[in-house]
Amino acid sequence: MSAPTADVPALLSLRGVNKSFGAVHVLQDVDFDAHAGQVTALVGDNGAGKSTLIKGIAGIYGFDHGGYVFDGEHVTVSNPKQANALGIEVVYQDLALCDNLDIVHNLFLGREVTKAGRLDEATMERRAKETLAGLSVRTVKSIRQQVASLSGGQRQTVAIARSVLWNSKVVILDEPTAALGVAQTEQVLKLVRRLADNGLAVVLISHNLNDVFEVADRISVLYLGRCVAQVVASDVTRNQVVELITSGRSGDLGLGAAAALAASPDTATDPTGPLNAVEAS
Ligand SMILES: Nc1ncnc2c1ncn2[C@@H]1O[C@H](COP(=O)(O)OP(=O)(O)OP(=O)(O)O)[C@@H](O)[C@H]1O
Ligand SMILES: [Mg+2]
Repeated sequence: MSAPTADVPALLSLRGVNKSFGAVHVLQDVDFDAHAGQVTALVGDNGAGKSTLIKGIAGIYGFDHGGYVFDGEHVTVSNPKQANALGIEVVYQDLALCDNLDIVHNLFLGREVTKAGRLDEATMERRAKETLAGLSVRTVKSIRQQVASLSGGQRQTVAIARSVLWNSKVVILDEPTAALGVAQTEQVLKLVRRLADNGLAVVLISHNLNDVFEVADRISVLYLGRCVAQVVASDVTRNQVVELITSGRSGDLGLGAAAALAASPDTATDPTGPLNAVEAS
């Protein structure tokens, strides 16, 4: 695995993390870094382990073993509360917004501000306005608008704004543009960039390499549950990233030839596969 240039120390670092579900070894000795003020794209084919990795980061399930370092300290994160307390927020693909509530109530869903036992609407409204203004969100007409009436891009914006209300330091976005058209994708990518420019460590899961190359500072590639490369985006070409995603290696990057072949699903389960042919020859 090639190391990204070490200009800024990582805010979040995983070292050699593993996760199995029963007999299925989904994450194998994965290293992963996210840096404050930067967008780190997490890419990999379907089933590579991206969601499993972020669920481990978010404490939805603990890693079986491996190191979790946050802001230079070894930490234990085995439930979502511990991750939230560190300032780690995840925007999941389904967004989990309540259609029948307005933007303010969605932003504070489950973490409502109260005063003398009642909802403190004025404080929530003020903080909602400040947060949206801080993110330069101008497309929303009224923060008292029901979420059901918003476009896909606006809904994504609300979900992202919710994740930065809480003194967040790391925001992880799972496929934020997957369901969006061209103009809305552009808006959300600008927002993603602003989060990083505001100092957050942003992790962007995406299958869309246009998006990745537009906003990412760094790219981490998962291949069959292994991290095969963590690179600075400007150091690699799109073709190299495609090769890393599909075969685990590209030239000097990624797994060695034998390791890539051994990991390949075509050979791992097939005793007559190419690896054996290579060994026999
Ligand atoms: N709870 C679970 N029990 C058993 N296997 C699981 C579980 N969760 C994930 N897996 C397996 O782990 C592997 C990685 O899944 P994961 O969802 O992390 O992939 P992904 O990279 O997010 O894929 P996609 O791009 O399709 O979202 C898959 O083979 C999946 O079947
Ligand atoms: Mg996934």
